[in-house]
Amino acid sequence: MRDLLPPGTYAAECFGDLLPDVVLPDEYAAVRTATAARRGEFHTVRALARRALAGLALEAHHRYEVHPLLPDARGAPIWPLGIVGSMTHTLDYRAAVVAKSSTYAAIGLDAESNRVLPPEVCEIICRPEEWSMIDALSRQEPSLPWSSVLFSAKESVYKAWYPLTGAWLDFDDVSVQIEHDPQTFQARLPAPASVGQASTIEELNGRWMATADLILTTAYVPSDIR
Ligand SMILES: CC(C)(COP(=O)(O)OP(=O)(O)OC[C@H]1O[C@@H](n2cnc3c(N)ncnc32)[C@H](O)[C@@H]1OP(=O)(O)O)[C@@H](O)C(=O)NCCC(=O)NCCS
Repeated sequence: MRDLLPPGTYAAECFGDLLPDVVLPDEYAAVRTATAARRGEFHTVRALARRALAGLALEAHHRYEVHPLLPDARGAPIWPLGIVGSMTHTLDYRAAVVAKSSTYAAIGLDAESNRVLPPEVCEIICRPEEWSMIDALSRQEPSLPWSSVLFSAKESVYKAWYPLTGAWLDFDDVSVQIEHDPQTFQARLPAPASVGQASTIEELNGRWMATADLILTTAYVPSDIR
């Protein structure tokens, strides 16, 4: 994942669920009635977030391990003051990334299965220009599931966007331009004024990578862009 993430970020990842050293009472309560699978991914990704925060803590001279990473009303994790971050879990992969809010105003991280999405899902997530982009990229590099790269890019954009703005984004609200080499993308908001206070941000940058099983993406907003 190091290749994926921009400088100044701290991350941790694993396959399968961990038995965390610590489960904070408020986090335990947040998923107490959920299925065992959901509790497993929830606690695992928070253990990873604390590992990533420990890396950052050395630099920030701060301790973050007692801060419960609870979901807000829309499911976004509430990070300690001065921190931005993101978490993902897909198949048995789990990962978390954090950064100082003085470095990044927001960061989103997403993992999806490495597979071509069914046409009915593409109908929902793709804007017209993105269909042509996927066709062109597929001709260039047929072995990659470009629809999944696009989907994951939009998910990581939303995971950065929502904590920054408190605003919802439809798949149609964002136009993503994916580059094959370097493995980057740009997400433009064709109508930024329609999403509340965030009208000053019209573009997010991102990176993507593919493994045999997974597509990983990150989208980020440097703090000096605000
Ligand atoms: C919220 C959402 C992005 C999560 O993505 P996902 O691929 O289903 O699931 P992942 O495992 O990758 O990520 C789940 C984690 O995302 C984080 N998350 C959930 N809601 C979030 C939000 N509103 N903002 C930021 N992060 C959020 C949480 O940490 C969650 O894990 P947790 O519940 O264990 O804490 C997705 O379910 C969703 O609602 N998408 C619709 C909105 C959207 O993507 N629009 C695209 C606009 S371009």
